[in-house]
Amino acid sequence: MHLSTRSNRTMSLLLGVFSAFCLLGAALGQDVTYEDYLAQIKACPRECHCPRNFPSSVYCDNRELKQIPNIPPHTLYLYLQNNLIESLSKEALSNATQLRWLNVNHNRITDEGMAEGALEAMPQLLQLYMGDNLLTSVPVGLPSSLEQLQLSSNRISKIPAGVFSGMDRLSLLDLQGNKLLDDAVTEVSLKGLGGLVQMNLAKNQLSSMPTGLPPSTTQLFLDGNNIQGIPSEYFKGLPKVAFLRLNGNKLSTGGVPRDVFNLSSLLELQLSHNQLTEVPFISAGLEHLHLDHNQIKSVNGSDICPVSAEALEDYAYASAPKLRYLRLDGNEIPPPIPRDVVTCFRLLRSIVI
Ligand SMILES: *[C@@H]1O[C@H](CO)[C@@H](O)[C@H](O)[C@H]1NC(C)=O
Ligand SMILES: *[C@@H]1O[C@H](CO)[C@@H](O)[C@H](O)[C@H]1NC(C)=O
Ligand SMILES: *[C@@H]1O[C@H](CO)[C@@H](O)[C@H](O)[C@H]1NC(C)=O
Repeated sequence: MHLSTRSNRTMSLLLGVFSAFCLLGAALGQDVTYEDYLAQIKACPRECHCPRNFPSSVYCDNRELKQIPNIPPHTLYLYLQNNLIESLSKEALSNATQLRWLNVNHNRITDEGMAEGALEAMPQLLQLYMGDNLLTSVPVGLPSSLEQLQLSSNRISKIPAGVFSGMDRLSLLDLQGNKLLDDAVTEVSLKGLGGLVQMNLAKNQLSSMPTGLPPSTTQLFLDGNNIQGIPSEYFKGLPKVAFLRLNGNKLSTGGVPRDVFNLSSLLELQLSHNQLTEVPFISAGLEHLHLDHNQIKSVNGSDICPVSAEALEDYAYASAPKLRYLRLDGNEIPPPIPRDVVTCFRLLRSIVI
């Protein structure tokens, strides 16, 4: 009895050590030695917290820090959000060359505070969160390894030419809530973003559609600008656009060619809170359409139906329009829902009028 209890305890201790090593392996990757693991725990900055089972994560968030503490080598994930940090100091980050993730959201970082070369010294950085700071320009010297760059809620009005050069791994660029005008977003300023998937330019000061977006763009968010019109060939250069949000702009039917959204790639189109008086033509593949809070007076289902009457009649569901969700509330359309709308869009699950 006694013996077996002891061996059980030894067993569970061994298992514990074993699983700690497994965790360690999983957490730090294959090439981290036990010495490095101990060194990492020992080097954890006094101001921060480094979990024992995941010491490559360094938590220094919400601590009223004015400066970045010295970050130990082997740090992969660094959390510095919600502090009072004014600069990304090269010195404090000089050993953080392995960083994959850097979160400095909600601090007081200025353009001057971006030490030259501080970010370039992190050649493996994948995600950089710098939202809610005091930047007026997209910082130069970004590592070309970056996949996601979050710069929302700064005061950015400038995108320096060539700042994204060589950054074809960047898939997400979030610039919402800044002060970008039309002439800031151009082919010259966006050059290099060959792999961009999501571009968020919501809540800026654009009065026309941005130029220079790469053809890889799939999600384009432009809500809350002052955009008045869309050039008829605009989407020719964006063959993959699937999610398009233009809520809260100044689009009127006169400024929007009626077939400009008739794009086979489009799955979701949001045009709420504009000044449209007519329903634009859509493609049979569109699944979500938001047209609420415009000035539309009537909807002619056969007019906007992307499929011909004959094709509808043969009840071939494969060719039926894919629209599942339609919002038309906040317009001037009297109920009931026009019958020809329901006849055309047979897959509609929800319609708000
Ligand atoms: C960087 O690491 C070296 C070697 O471990 C150490 O001597 C130095 O103080 C570290 N620098 C910072 C800023 O932490
Ligand atoms: C929409 O585009 C398709 C394919 O390009 C085309 O056949 C169709 O006529 C267009 N519909 C309208 C209403 O422009
Ligand atoms: C809807 O449009 C079609 C084709 O443009 C037209 O023939 C029809 O009269 C319209 N229906 C209504 C109710 O206005």
